[in-house]
Amino acid sequence: MHSGLQSAKDFFTEQNANTYDKIVRYATIGRDKQWKKNILTMIQGNIVLDLASGTGILSEMIRNSNDALEVLSLDLSIDYVKISKKRRKIPTVVNASAEMLPFRNRSCDCIVSSYLAKYVDIDKLVTEISRVITPNGIVIFHDFSYPSKRVIRIAWKLHFKLLCAVGLMITSWRHVFSELDQMIENSEWSEEVLASLGSHGFAEISSTYFTFGTSKMIVAKKNE
Ligand SMILES: C[S@@+](CC[C@H](N)C(=O)[O-])C[C@H]1O[C@@H](n2cnc3c(N)ncnc32)[C@H](O)[C@@H]1O
Repeated sequence: MHSGLQSAKDFFTEQNANTYDKIVRYATIGRDKQWKKNILTMIQGNIVLDLASGTGILSEMIRNSNDALEVLSLDLSIDYVKISKKRRKIPTVVNASAEMLPFRNRSCDCIVSSYLAKYVDIDKLVTEISRVITPNGIVIFHDFSYPSKRVIRIAWKLHFKLLCAVGLMITSWRHVFSELDQMIENSEWSEEVLASLGSHGFAEISSTYFTFGTSKMIVAKKNE
């Protein structure tokens, strides 16, 4: 098992699934919702697959944005899948790995993911996305990024120190907050995604940074 998969299994558990929605809101100082709204603006087609749907925040936003869309959701953690089914009206949620998608070839028009990329083997993920996406389909990756400006990095590190201190009080999140900053700093998800998209027949690739470079979205279109 590669280290990203091990981290995902250690991080997203029965102990913290119930509090995830609040934690992601507070930990991103409310930015998570805006970042996800930016994802919504890029969605095209009729069938949308939300990879690493977690508790279903993004899947629900996609569904609410357009009743005509069919939303499929998938997550590795059974505990997060259970919460998403309990809390939200999301019709199809699958418990599986994004590295081995249980979907037919060319079956989804748009494939999105928020905070998945740093946990996966990017080449396996893009190979699967490339198989499942329809010709001219859109893929959208979103995840945290390590800011490039020195002054922002100082503020970013202080923010994570604060999260670590908070984590000392919330035992179910302690482990996540003690490792997440290092993981984001070391992750090369965006470089790997850009390289892999190019070699899997994707074009019109664009990258957008949000909130002083603390998160990033990559969008691309599958060639016919
Ligand atoms: C930080 S949560 C994000 C949840 C949701 N996308 C959101 O934005 O609120 C990360 C999620 O990625 C899932 N995950 C990690 N690795 C995965 C994989 N290989 N396949 C599917 N899901 C995975 C975890 O189970 C967890 O629910």
